[in-house]
Amino acid sequence: MKSFLELAQARQSDRSFEPGRTIERDVLERIVEAGRLAPSACNGQPWHFTVVTDSELLPQVGKATSSLGMNRFVKDAAALVLITHEPTNITSKLGCGIKDKDFPMMDLGIASAYITLAAEDEGIGSCILGWFDEKKIKQLTGIPEKKRLMLIVALGYAAKPKRKKIRKEWSKVVSFEKY
Ligand SMILES: Cc1cc2nc3c(=O)[nH]c(=O)nc-3n(C[C@H](O)[C@H](O)[C@H](O)COP(=O)(O)O)c2cc1C
Repeated sequence: MKSFLELAQARQSDRSFEPGRTIERDVLERIVEAGRLAPSACNGQPWHFTVVTDSELLPQVGKATSSLGMNRFVKDAAALVLITHEPTNITSKLGCGIKDKDFPMMDLGIASAYITLAAEDEGIGSCILGWFDEKKIKQLTGIPEKKRLMLIVALGYAAKPKRKKIRKEWSKVVSFEKY
């Protein structure tokens, strides 16, 4: 079993999936459960996860993530987890106002990260997507027009080996005690 750090090292944005290989329902459920268990400001849980796997719907949603050369690989994803912004609770809303911070956006980011790490743990590749035709996907999946679809996590069996991670140097992004 991988330690958490090993899992974080191993997770990457996979942009090539094995076409036609599906993910078992129980595996998908465990992956999304990790998102449901993610922390959120004041436990507001301002999210809804729509899991798209249907063989007719999936390619249509996949196509709507792809434009200007971005996200072409999504056509081979086995599942897409659509993360919709739902109303948070009053405490989180008050906190946002008082502290001038967008807690729900952070919450959705954390949930998506949990999903990618749970996927890695299950041997499934993933990629968070912020680039997609929100209006089209809402129409396709019945997400109400007034709601915001903020992120999508593409899932599938990775078809390419792991890359070396590109990250800013430790000393540039970490300090102890003082900034
Ligand atoms: C909020 C967010 C939106 C992203 N949107 C896309 C996207 O639309 N398409 C894509 O290929 N990757 C997308 N990514 C993946 C990033 O490009 C990737 O995480 C980053 O380059 C680091 O690489 P790694 O995930 O392989 O470690 C997104 C990541 C985040 C966190």
